[in-house]
Amino acid sequence: MSAVILVHGGAGLMRTLEGARLQAYRDGLAESARAGRAALEQGAGAVEAVLAAVRCMEASGVFNAGAGSCLDEEGHATLDAALMRGRDRAAGAVGACAATLHPTDVARDLMEEGRHVLLVGEGADRRARRLGLPPLPPPTVERYEAWARLSGRHITRPEDLTTTGQAEDQAEDQAEDQAEDQAEDQAEDQVAGRDPEGDTVGAVALDAQGRLAAAVSTGGLWLKARGRVGDSALPGAGCYACDDLGAAASATGVGERMIRAVTCKLACDIAQREGAAAAARRAVDDLERRFGVDSGGLIVVDRLGRIGATFNTHGMGRALARPGQAEVVVAVWPEDPFPTG
Ligand code: GLY
Repeated sequence: MSAVILVHGGAGLMRTLEGARLQAYRDGLAESARAGRAALEQGAGAVEAVLAAVRCMEASGVFNAGAGSCLDEEGHATLDAALMRGRDRAAGAVGACAATLHPTDVARDLMEEGRHVLLVGEGADRRARRLGLPPLPPPTVERYEAWARLSGRHITRPEDLTTTGQAEDQAEDQAEDQAEDQAEDQAEDQVAGRDPEGDTVGAVALDAQGRLAAAVSTGGLWLKARGRVGDSALPGAGCYACDDLGAAASATGVGERMIRAVTCKLACDIAQREGAAAAARRAVDDLERRFGVDSGGLIVVDRLGRIGATFNTHGMGRALARPGQAEVVVAVWPEDPFPTG
């Protein structure tokens, strides 16, 4: 048994991930794995390790989670997250939370309280405020520009949406009509998981006591419907951890597919019999058989500290660190060397 932290920074087409952006993405993955490793080295358990790793990516602004979250069809960021503790399968989760950049901390509070597993919308926001968590910063200009580009709308700030409508002149209506076909194509891209950037962050860990945990956090899909909640708010789909099964898993990709396939629970069931690498591979095979390529990917750790990281998209950011070992392995593309097993 060897303690380990394994993180992902999202799977997808990653159209815009090159140059300085790619470097920032890789640096963010390494920093996250180091944060998880530091927690394990300080004697924290697997839950604290996955939280440290995910918090780091939520705060960075580089990933589709926390400060870097994508925007929905109305130009707002709403976040989903979940956390699961393998020892007793305790779980906490939030959906469509807009009040904090750390929705996983709300999930942690719910998990520890033990009364409910999932809070959504205003209830999740209230809980975040009550906990005094840092607020979600407004999206950057770059995010608004991406939203305008993807939606085909000639508005670069969501506030503008509420002041348009009937007062808008005919020329703008016409421009919007012309952009509609393009927007539909782009929305189809999102549904198919061919997002222009990565999707979702997550972490799995095994601690020195042999305990497992999993976490996941996301802004969801670009241009998602207002109120849409994805797999990252659903333990079993977006993440799962169970010491009895001896595995923890965290997913990224088209959430509707992970929900229907209950991907992370499936991966943990497979890991119990066949280990982490086979679990990740076979869970992605299952997604591909049901829904085709570009579904996403997942990371898995098992009770022996073996790992699996598999995806059927263009890329998936991933990073691995082990307490007491200086090396942090970071990979993004399929051909990048990355340990498995
Ligand atoms: N996997 C993130 C989402 O679909 O919301």
